Amino acid sequence: MHQEVLAYIEKNKDRFLAELFDLLRIPSVGADGKYRNDVLQAADFLLRKFRKMGMDKAQLLNGSGFPVVYAEKIVDPQAPTVMIYGHYDVQPADPLDLWTSDPFQPEIRDGKIYARGACDDKGQMYMHVLAVEGLMQMGKLDCNVKFLIEGEEETGSVSLPEVISKYAELLSCDTVLISDTSMLANDTPSISISLRGLSYVEVEVTGPNRDLHSGVYGGAVDNPVNVLCEMIASLKDENGRITIPGFYSDVLALTPEERNEYRRIPFDQAAYNAHLNIAATRGEQGYSTLEQTSARPTLDVNGIWGGYTGEGSKTVLPAQAHAKISMRLVPHQDSETITRLFTEHFERIAPKSVRVKVTPHHGGNPYLTDVHTPAYQAAVEAMTQSFGKAPIATREGGSIPILAAFDQAIKVPIVLMGFGLNSDAIHSPNEHYGIFNYLKGIETICLYYGKYRALASSSLETQAEHAGA
Ligand code: BES
Ligand code: MN
Ligand code: MN
Repeated sequence: MHQEVLAYIEKNKDRFLAELFDLLRIPSVGADGKYRNDVLQAADFLLRKFRKMGMDKAQLLNGSGFPVVYAEKIVDPQAPTVMIYGHYDVQPADPLDLWTSDPFQPEIRDGKIYARGACDDKGQMYMHVLAVEGLMQMGKLDCNVKFLIEGEEETGSVSLPEVISKYAELLSCDTVLISDTSMLANDTPSISISLRGLSYVEVEVTGPNRDLHSGVYGGAVDNPVNVLCEMIASLKDENGRITIPGFYSDVLALTPEERNEYRRIPFDQAAYNAHLNIAATRGEQGYSTLEQTSARPTLDVNGIWGGYTGEGSKTVLPAQAHAKISMRLVPHQDSETITRLFTEHFERIAPKSVRVKVTPHHGGNPYLTDVHTPAYQAAVEAMTQSFGKAPIATREGGSIPILAAFDQAIKVPIVLMGFGLNSDAIHSPNEHYGIFNYLKGIETICLYYGKYRALASSSLETQAEHAGA
């Protein structure tokens, strides 16, 4: 099987790249209305591909947002069904002047594909399309497959829950497999067992009814920008802990065993700092960098504005100040609860001299994988075979907002088998994805289905034995 897969990939790799390049040329930026048609075009591209490769069904599932591309292949009603989730929308490409090549004209440099979405998530998602096509051509597709490729992940998957509940029956499956995360290094395969959740709020601080002369009124009238800075500064203490009452109440503490696992992960703090051109990190005290970025919650200002920011100087006491603030959440924090705790706290700490308004944006709950499932074990086996090395289980800091909703609506194990690298610059200028990773991903996915079917049916047998006993 492995040899056959490798031969198939070798024979088709130029086509694999050409097809992905066609998809990458579509600027499907979800956040920017200007690209609306392109986002729809990316959905159409996938729909046509699914039809061409011989899926039994391929259709758009429409909700109130961008369409979800759905396709299925039922090889055997007795076989387990794997649902592949991914997203065809991408982040905005700006700042454009920091790109070496056009973000929507993919280019290979140094063995890597440079384009917006190359890794997140077009490249990783398309590996699944090609792997399933390959298995179908080889007559080796051992499981039923359903694809659910959405176009709103980067904007919070706001309308996906509605589509999932509307099509609950169509979407029934035994496991969800996702490649939209990172692994540790090309010679250190890993599987994510946890992603963080998110609470995202926008705050507005209002002082006087208009911008004032800072000489005439300054000193007495409170300055909303100063106030906002004070308020934000007070949200963390000197140990880097968030001061919102109740913020940590539901945080699942790392066990000593888990902390030992973290210590086994190869990590070079000096190289990390050098890569980012920083002299030091400064996170929550008592936790390592890897723990801080994956198993601990955060609070970060994503943007802050107010007052005069144009050329030269203007002596003004601004009437308003604004900030966008995100909190990354870990198991078992709840996004809505945290947003409420933030709002109550922020309103409470505001001085009488200003009014504050907190507007919640999208969010999502954290996710933790059960590793004792055939689906997870199949991913471990597939990676072990393709990389020649067993993967390490890691927690990651990013979020896929729909995971927790999936978990509640479909209640099947979700496996996060990502092939990106943290250095792939997703969301940044010069995003890229290694050709090695692209082809290794296709190879691993091809191996996954056979292993999952075998493990799933043997676990069914054990269940039956237990039931019979
Ligand atoms: N694929 C990423 C999430 C990710 C990246 C997980 C790397 C683990 C490692 C996803 O597309 C993403 O960027 N999610 C957003 C969600 C947000 C826009 C609601 C995020 O994490 O900021
Ligand atoms: Mn993604
Ligand atoms: Mn992303």
